[in-house]
Amino acid sequence: EADLESKLPLKGKKILITAGPTYEAIDPVRFIGNHSSGKMGFDIAQSAANLGASVILISGPTHCKINHPLVQVVPVVSAQEMYDACHRYYQEVDVAIAAAAVADYKPKNVATQKIKKAADDFTIELEKTKDILASLGEVKKNQFLIGFALETENEIENAKAKIQKKNLDLIVLNSLQDEGAGFGKKTNKVTFIDSKFQIEPMDLKSKEAVAYDILNKVIAHFYG
Ligand code: CTP
Ligand code: CA
Repeated sequence: EADLESKLPLKGKKILITAGPTYEAIDPVRFIGNHSSGKMGFDIAQSAANLGASVILISGPTHCKINHPLVQVVPVVSAQEMYDACHRYYQEVDVAIAAAAVADYKPKNVATQKIKKAADDFTIELEKTKDILASLGEVKKNQFLIGFALETENEIENAKAKIQKKNLDLIVLNSLQDEGAGFGKKTNKVTFIDSKFQIEPMDLKSKEAVAYDILNKVIAHFYG
């Protein structure tokens, strides 16, 4: 009995996870999106459930599948829908992990009819989406809040700035430097930075292994 319990260190904890890309509509048949596969977020959700946590997985459009009694999938399409879903559940969770690749900009106006081909040049005016993670940071109570950062230059400095700007407890910095890491890949090279700016570089490993590393940080937060 005690042994079984110790294998479920996140039993009784509720974790919100965002995953995948968002699609921002241009017209009824077109959108602006990105190449996020959703795999990182789904791997975190699977690992968290395996460790006993109840998971609310808020996911943009993805081919990833998950089937675990402790995981509730909330499918969304746009950044605004992801924002609304996150705030619907945030106050009831102990941990939130933002692994989604949310669009930074969306079309200012969405055409109600399919846009017809006409002039040689065509411009779409964009406006910023809401920063979901920053908005969670703003209304944070006791939640342990984890974000990701994708940087190609001044990685550590930029990631530290995101910790402060978004009121995070931990950031998972994705290094694209490494051949095997990142979008569409099965592996990730990450560096953890906490709110005290303690830096911990990790080895290149599978996304499943990265997921467990992240959840070890969560376990350490509660029981470390
Ligand atoms: N994020 C979010 N909502 C947004 C944009 C980003 O919740 N509208 C979250 C991502 O899920 C990630 C973190 O914020 O956990 C950092 O995303 P990233 O794209 O690296 O940073 P941005 O703040 O968008 O800044 P920039 O793209 O300019 O580096
Ligand atoms: Ca961004």
